[in-house]
Amino acid sequence: MIVATKQLFAHAYGKYAVGAYNINNLEQIMGLFKGCIDSQAPFIIQLSKGARSYANKQMLEAMIRTAEEIFPEAIFAVHLDHGDEQTCYECIESGFYSSVMIDASHSPFEENVAITKRVVDAAHAKGISVEAELGMLGGVEEHVQVDEKNACLTDPDEALEFVKQSGCDSLACAIGTSHGAYKFSGGQGIHFDRVKAIQDLLPGFPLVMHGSSSVPQDEVERINAAGGELKGAKGVDTAQYLPAAKLGVCKVNIDTDGRLVWTRVHREFFKEQPGNFDFRTPGKIFMAEYAKFIASRNELLGSAGELESLRESLKG
Ligand code: G3H
Ligand code: 13P
Ligand code: ZN
Repeated sequence: MIVATKQLFAHAYGKYAVGAYNINNLEQIMGLFKGCIDSQAPFIIQLSKGARSYANKQMLEAMIRTAEEIFPEAIFAVHLDHGDEQTCYECIESGFYSSVMIDASHSPFEENVAITKRVVDAAHAKGISVEAELGMLGGVEEHVQVDEKNACLTDPDEALEFVKQSGCDSLACAIGTSHGAYKFSGGQGIHFDRVKAIQDLLPGFPLVMHGSSSVPQDEVERINAAGGELKGAKGVDTAQYLPAAKLGVCKVNIDTDGRLVWTRVHREFFKEQPGNFDFRTPGKIFMAEYAKFIASRNELLGSAGELESLRESLKG
């Protein structure tokens, strides 16, 4: 069942975080739904501009609607990840999305507010909620490149002002994470003092953490042993997910880790069986491994086991 993103946030706030997983293909969709049912967790399925162009937005919509029929127990929201203004309007008009993200974080404050407000007005007219971004994560985003050294954490006072002026429903904050597989060079992690300062000024307001992949070291080692070259890849400590959730982080975005599972499964499979060319065999392994990975993330986020309680709360 597709629900409003804000319904998921209302149930999760301060207790657990909802996993927001990027998908690009059928195998990811099947693994994601299975992993969430196995762990009895609500979830957010998110589509980037790149995914909508890679797999065709109509194909993605059809696959998600079919997955909803195959897994009737599932409760989830559909979200546009890192949208530009035009793509936001397209998704709002489509009637398929629960929420959109307008990412104008590369623009100056006033312009970010103005763009976000236009999207909020269009989205709210259709009952859709809007995630905006303030501050800059390090790493590479779809249409923005930011050096790690230029990455700047979200300023709490600006966050309060931004939410007031833009009317957005949730805020992606730069709190020390970055996109991709190379997040940290040393022992850095989430800046909890910053999250707390933002929550103090915006109590009850859903915060979003991008760049949340953990880049499991065993996964990286297996990929490298099977011919990969991911040297020095490092991610977020998964023990930090729940403490962040308690401070109002309701949505935790994970994409890179899923790509690592895919890469490990396929590299190992074709290394061990160089004569094989039936992609369905590693495809099946991937779906099972991705489902396991998703269930393990939901456990760490605290969303595992929340499905029935959410279902009850949606009835009231
Ligand atoms: O933050 C970006 C997400 O990981 C989506 O990546 O734009 O390559 O689909 P993508
Ligand atoms: P990762 O690269 O850490 O998976 O982050 C994904 C993300 O933030 C999607 O918006
Ligand atoms: Zn992101």
